[in-house]
Amino acid sequence: MTVLILGATSDIGGEIAKILCPGRTVVMCARRPDAIPALPEAKEVHVIPFEASDLTSHRLIVNEAAQFGPITHAVVCFGILGSQERALSDEAHAAEIATIDYTAQVSMLTVLADVLRQQSESSTIYAFSSIAGWRARKANYVYGSTKAGLDAFCQGLMDELHGSRVSLVLARPGFVIGSMTEGMKPAPMSVTPRVVAEAVVKQQRSGTIWIPGRLRLLAWVMKLVPRPVWRHMPR
Ligand SMILES: NC(=O)c1ccc[n+]([C@@H]2O[C@H](COP(=O)([O-])OP(=O)(O)OC[C@H]3O[C@@H](n4cnc5c(N)ncnc54)[C@H](OP(=O)(O)O)[C@@H]3O)[C@@H](O)[C@H]2O)c1
Repeated sequence: MTVLILGATSDIGGEIAKILCPGRTVVMCARRPDAIPALPEAKEVHVIPFEASDLTSHRLIVNEAAQFGPITHAVVCFGILGSQERALSDEAHAAEIATIDYTAQVSMLTVLADVLRQQSESSTIYAFSSIAGWRARKANYVYGSTKAGLDAFCQGLMDELHGSRVSLVLARPGFVIGSMTEGMKPAPMSVTPRVVAEAVVKQQRSGTIWIPGRLRLLAWVMKLVPRPVWRHMPR
């Protein structure tokens, strides 16, 4: 039973790894292997260098991880918030956000679904959307648009995997206090990476989960706000 963490220096991914690691083999994939957190309770820990924008490496990495044992949990937790302000005039940065937060996610999720489907063990893939993708805001619409696309991709993939041995859990967290949001004032209903990790691993079947759960209500209200008002919403 192998737990695969793609983006192993992620705050949320690190917390999920801590919860899932006892007695299991864990494969930690990161672009900064030196910064990977220790997992003393894991049976074994293996490290694979991982640069998400290198799409051709995705299948090789998943195949390499599967050699340590069937992948029962795959956590796709890499991502960047990027700078919306910079993306207004720096198209390379806008494209970088789109590549890491959409294209690379689509590529990795496609590989995982394909490889895990061929295993005889049941498995779960964890992917991360965001409230930011629910309705794009002026303040972070590049990032938000990638999450909207990823969310739609995952809804379709979930249906595609229905009836197979592979489950897909799609998390829609709100503001998570951690590295990605460092220096920002926590938004209402903020949560910690630990809270997100506990919520996703608790989910036993394919499904979409808001974190915290009451964010779902706020999300529906968000859709009703008239655009002239919405335009002025802060991040
Ligand atoms: N934090 C939030 O408020 C929030 C809210 C909703 C959804 N989410 C989503 O939840 C997921 C996890 O977020 P988090 O809070 O755990 O973020 P995080 O702590 O900032 O971690 C992001 C991870 O992505 C890795 N990464 C970034 N670019 C990469 C690249 N080109 N190649 C390989 N790895 C790369 C980072 O590596 P380095 O350590 O090397 O930078 C880091 O491991 C993301 O998809 C995020 O969009 C987060």
